[in-house]
Amino acid sequence: MTVTVRVPAKVNVQLAVGAARPDGFHDLANVFLAVGLFDEVTATPSDELRITCEGPDAAEVPLDRTNLAARAALTLAERHGVPPAVHLHIAKDIPVAGGMAGGSADAAGALVACDALWGTGASYGELLDICAELGSDVPFSMVGGAALGTGRGDRLRPLAVGGVFHWVFAVADGGLSTPAVYREFDRLNEGVTVPEPAASQDLLDALAKGDAHALGATLANDLQPAALSLFPSLADTLAVGRAAGALGALVSGSGPTTAFLTADAESATTVASSLLASGTCRAVRVALGPVAGATMV
Ligand code: C5P
Repeated sequence: MTVTVRVPAKVNVQLAVGAARPDGFHDLANVFLAVGLFDEVTATPSDELRITCEGPDAAEVPLDRTNLAARAALTLAERHGVPPAVHLHIAKDIPVAGGMAGGSADAAGALVACDALWGTGASYGELLDICAELGSDVPFSMVGGAALGTGRGDRLRPLAVGGVFHWVFAVADGGLSTPAVYREFDRLNEGVTVPEPAASQDLLDALAKGDAHALGATLANDLQPAALSLFPSLADTLAVGRAAGALGALVSGSGPTTAFLTADAESATTVASSLLASGTCRAVRVALGPVAGATMV
């Protein structure tokens, strides 16, 4: 038996970040949107836990137990007293270390695939709990659509979305470490009173109406100054996309992928071509959102 699960990437249309908590994490108001770039995780019975990966960035993906997909399988196996005897193959299309939750997507995919393969029968709620244990973005990878994440970003409230949005993503040459970007956020905010993170009502209204112009005007990422500080050339990428007609542009999550919201498919093509021609990024991807979360195929 083989189980394949398809899991989307995400972009944070708003990422409001509070002050560092005593545990080192930050409270967030994190408005997630799942977008149509997908990893596929295939689970097949095996003598022992084994991870393989294919795709343009496969060489950068760890194949040992530090891979979040491996940790997902191990956690589920331990909870249910079954051996973690599975080969997980990841067909990777989501940029690696890009701020698009690719690692989290693989974890959610592995969890759903192993649950089906092993007949674990875990409830949706238990799977969500395991996701939250694995990482702040993992629950959203499983749920998909659009959601407001609070706490570490793992407590989700589904959001209504009144349309489909056209996105262009510029993949940077290199990655950024999420903890490093949060540390830079703390450094830049030293001595500053950081307000409690809150979702913007204008942004939630824009999502609910499917109004791309209004959404473009309200996109916001509190980690962006920190990402730009560590990766200054991202400012050039953002400027190119804006000049080419994007309705809004921002760093995706902790970066370094940059995201451009466009009015329609035609404008997305124009923005994508300008970004590619500018030489300010390594690759360009076009995608629609929202899309469903982890889905068996
Ligand atoms: O939860 P996850 O393992 O994805 O988080 C990775 C790192 O990002 C954490 O170790 C922490 O440094 C930072 N983080 C944070 N606040 C959050 C989420 C992540 O400081 N809400």
